[in-house]
Amino acid sequence: MKSKGIFFCLLCCLASCYYDSEEDLYPSSDCNTTNVSFLNDIQPILANSCLSCHNALSTIGGGVILEGHEAILRYANDASLVGSVKHNSGYSAMPQSASKLDDCKISKIEAWVQAGSPNN
Ligand code: HEC
Repeated sequence: MKSKGIFFCLLCCLASCYYDSEEDLYPSSDCNTTNVSFLNDIQPILANSCLSCHNALSTIGGGVILEGHEAILRYANDASLVGSVKHNSGYSAMPQSASKLDDCKISKIEAWVQAGSPNN
């Protein structure tokens, strides 16, 4: 019985990994990526997962400041914001020393950058 439980867990992990990659291609319908708002969507994500290292006064974020729209624009424009949260090669995987953001948050960040990173 015990081993069956472990096997089932493994299956779940595999299934969720597979599901993840599919979500990248076809964002699920309960993840709304239209009209993403900097104020209501992007800023809270960064505040929760990034600003502990990347606030304006931080000395542990490698000099990368993600506080305030203007500061973030630089990383939106040079593609490192999206590259780092998607763990693309060539970028430092973020958030550092923590698990990847969930797919919906990543999709929102990507959609916001694709929309021209508006201050909305
Ligand atoms: C535990 C601290 C920490 C957290 C949390 C963290 N970062 Fe970083 N981040 C760093 C450090 C240190 C660097 C500079 C060294 C490096 O590139 O690895 C960095 C670099 C970056 C860079 C530049 C990467 C590049 O390849 O040029 C970006 C963009 C970035 N972080 C975005 C984020 C985002 C977005 C989040 C939240 C989802 C986040 N970081 C969370 C510590 C952190």
